[in-house]
This record gives sequence, structure tokens and C-alpha cells, in this order.
Amino acid sequence: MLVTSRSAAEYHAMFDLTPDDLAGPILDCCAGGASFAAETGGRVVAVDPAYALGPGELAVRVRTGLDEGDRMIERNADRFEWGWYGSPARRAEMRREAAELFLADLEGRPERYVAGALPDLPLASGAVDLVLCSHLLFTWADQLGEDWHRRALAELVRVARREVRIFPVVVQGTGDPVAFLDRLRAELDDVGCRSHLRDVPYRFQRGGDQMLLVECAPRPKR
Ligand SMILES: C[S@@+](CC[C@H](N)C(=O)[O-])C[C@H]1O[C@@H](n2cnc3c(N)ncnc32)[C@H](O)[C@@H]1O
Repeated sequence: MLVTSRSAAEYHAMFDLTPDDLAGPILDCCAGGASFAAETGGRVVAVDPAYALGPGELAVRVRTGLDEGDRMIERNADRFEWGWYGSPARRAEMRREAAELFLADLEGRPERYVAGALPDLPLASGAVDLVLCSHLLFTWADQLGEDWHRRALAELVRVARREVRIFPVVVQGTGDPVAFLDRLRAELDDVGCRSHLRDVPYRFQRGGDQMLLVECAPRPKR
């Protein structure tokens, strides 16, 4: 799996974020080489297993990911629409800017970047208000199975006090829907976590224009 580098602008569009959404502590998991934490500030903690590599090897992975991502886009150009980015060149430029912001912030504020992997995050229950998960759950449903998703969802709900937002909800490459999504949503409902599929302003992968928003069951005040 590539360590990709989306920008805060991409996060804002993928997760339809408002200023209120940004008020409390936020977890970006899996953050990879994204610059959301770097651009948003101290309210964001970024978690990814790739952070265990250390800054040198991670920088290589992030920069390699940029070139590999460009090649994948070129090979599969018909699977994408370009209205949001404007052009392939602008997308590539945004990703490179995001990668450099991420790497600079990793050096300046390493405490914000925590090595960890779903479905067992190194965070306390209710540690953040909002969890954002870009391009891991559902994206890789052809490799990470239903039970892994069940446990990963439960873990994201455990660390979020208010909401979990996951984008996209289709499989990478094919854009196919995920067969077990409705079943997992019904199971969340059974434990008091309502979920919705919501259209978002971001457009890129055909069929991938919705996020899953999970409202966490109320907990005692901190
Ligand atoms: C496609 S990248 C997405 C990165 C970033 N969210 C973005 O939108 O650019 C997927 C990331 O998932 C991370 N990853 C892989 N397995 C994971 C797991 N079990 N838990 C959390 N992150 C994982 C990878 O290291 C990689 O950085």
C-alpha cells in the first residue's frame, strides 16, 4: 500500500469539513504523508504504521509514493474525473506540496505523528472528538476482509467522542461497492451508533463521492 500525501484542501472536500468540525481534537488515521495535521495545527494527531519507519525511510516512502501514484493515475486515467483538481498536473503539484509540508512538520513537531495500526490504536477511549479516515477502510476491501473492517470500525468508534468519517466507501481501482458495508452499518446501529452516507464536494475516483459518517453513542463528560 502506498503512503500517499493528500492536502488539507483534499481532506476538507473529502470530509465536507466545517469550522465547527475543526474545533476539537481530531485523529487522522491513516494519515500517511498527508499534510492535514501540518496545515491544521495542534488539534490533530496523525497515526499510521509507516511512522515506525523513522523520518529517513519514511521520507523515501512518501516521495516514492508520489511517483508511483502519478503512474497509477496515468495507467487508469479513464477511472477518474478531473473537475475537482482541474488537471493531472495540478493534482500532482498538490500532492508534492502536501508531502513537503508533511515532512517539514514531521521534523518540527514529531510528537504529532504516532506509529500505530488499526485495529489497535495507541489512544485512549474518547481521546478525540472527530476521526477522519481517508483511503484505508473500504478502499482496500479487496485485501482487508470483513472481520478486519468490523474491528477497525469498532476501534475508530472507541477513540472518537462525536463522529467518525470515512472516505471513500468504494473499492480502489474498480470503484465497486463494498458487499459488507450495510451489514457493518447495521451492527453499529445495534450498539447505538447511527451512520449515514453523505455526498461530499470532492470528485476524483468514479463512484467515490460519498463518505460514511458514524455518530458515536453518547459517553459521560470528560
Ligand atoms: C492510501 S494511504 C492514505 C494516506 C492519507 N490518509 C491520504 O489520504 O493521503 C494508506 C495509508 O494506510 C496506512 N495503513 C496501512 N495499514 C494500516 C492499518 N492497519 N492501520 C492504519 N493505517 C494503515 C499506510 O501506511 C498508508 O499510509
